[in-house]
Amino acid sequence: MNFGIDRISFHTSHYYVDLKTIAAARSVDPDKYYQGIGQEKMAIPSPDEDVVTLGASAAYPLMKDGELDEVELLLFATESGIDHSKAAGIYVHGLLDMAPRCRTLELKQACYSGTAGIQLAIGFVARNPTKKALVIASDVARYELGSPGEATQGCGAVAILISANPRLMAIDPECGYYTEDVMDFWRPNYRSEALVDGKYSTMVYIHALIESWKQYAEESGRALTDFDRFCYHIPFSKMAEKAHQKLCRKFKVDLDKQQLHRLLAESLRYSRVVGNCYAGSMYVGLTSLLDTAEEDLAGKRVGLYSYGSGCVGEFFSGVVQPGYRDALYVDQHRNLLENRSELTYQQYEDIFNYVVPTDGGEYVFPQYKTGPFRFSGISQHKREYESLVD
Ligand code: CAA
Repeated sequence: MNFGIDRISFHTSHYYVDLKTIAAARSVDPDKYYQGIGQEKMAIPSPDEDVVTLGASAAYPLMKDGELDEVELLLFATESGIDHSKAAGIYVHGLLDMAPRCRTLELKQACYSGTAGIQLAIGFVARNPTKKALVIASDVARYELGSPGEATQGCGAVAILISANPRLMAIDPECGYYTEDVMDFWRPNYRSEALVDGKYSTMVYIHALIESWKQYAEESGRALTDFDRFCYHIPFSKMAEKAHQKLCRKFKVDLDKQQLHRLLAESLRYSRVVGNCYAGSMYVGLTSLLDTAEEDLAGKRVGLYSYGSGCVGEFFSGVVQPGYRDALYVDQHRNLLENRSELTYQQYEDIFNYVVPTDGGEYVFPQYKTGPFRFSGISQHKREYESLVD
């Protein structure tokens, strides 16, 4: 029996800012962003969106398709938590009207927690093969205005259904993982923007990749040439490309530009126009690969590298299943990305500077264009959410 990813659905904000707009405001050559870091647009959450609404919106198509009925484990992976105590997944559980017989909790380890959720969920369904697990990875990437990280912001969520005999991807049992206590990127509880030692973070990302790969290769006996595609954690798309180049160079595997393009390009398409989704980023990449690859990927093995600053890295893999295309949400993702609204620089800055009131008063938030759910207000320190669908 196989275990892995049965369905995957992605959601992001309706609003984005083009990096040419940021380049003009910062007097930077736009090619630094378009070419240098490989990013074009970044999704910006409206004031009535947060990780709960993004995550619930990502999972909504699964609910409509009746896929959540057997779910008894809901893992919500985020580093943009909205409460120190209550798991964001519990709000999502309510909005999606899920059955009370469900374990629900929130996971944190920077951008790695989505993968922790996948591996824990696979353990759960391996023990309970008639049951399913829902992993939601939802984040808002925020850096200070004018900082080097600014152009690598973004937001989005991915809802991933884990089951026995999955329709999309069977996850291989072998994996390599690596933990080291480093300060490459972090966000103290009192800050709403991340702090980052940018160049150092790119070096730690690669170091954790090499160590994770070594363990994976030893355990699986596979070589880098045994994969048809790779999906990397994507803080910005150039990072994924550079990581793969460095991995191949380190282990003496020839890789020209064309091969690099064939192995990675499809997985980078969505992220180039959405930006970093932290815990969800690698899974946005996997969605992009499955949705947009023209080649039939059935039977193909995909190498997956997840990285969370601080740091944990994990290399694992999966095999795309026959008939996988019938289980994708391609049209929904295409519509979402094609029908967004562009923000001016001033609108971007106004939204960036918006702060959720913290005085315990009663607030009803103006309605922006969101997915099926919105963060409608706050009352006596309690967040209120609204469903815009029946
Ligand atoms: N045309 C084309 N390319 C240009 C250019 C131009 N006009 N101007 C600059 N470039 C190139 C540069 O040569 C450079 O390329 P190389 O890396 O190949 O040398 C690239 O554009 C970026 O330029 P800089 O190195 O000068 O950029 P920077 O120092 O201003 O910012 C960064 C880069 C430090 C990574 C910054 O984006 C950052 O801090 N990002 C946030 C942290 C991050 O994403 N780290 C990734 C690893 S950690 C992780 O993965 C977890 C996570 O999600 C955060």
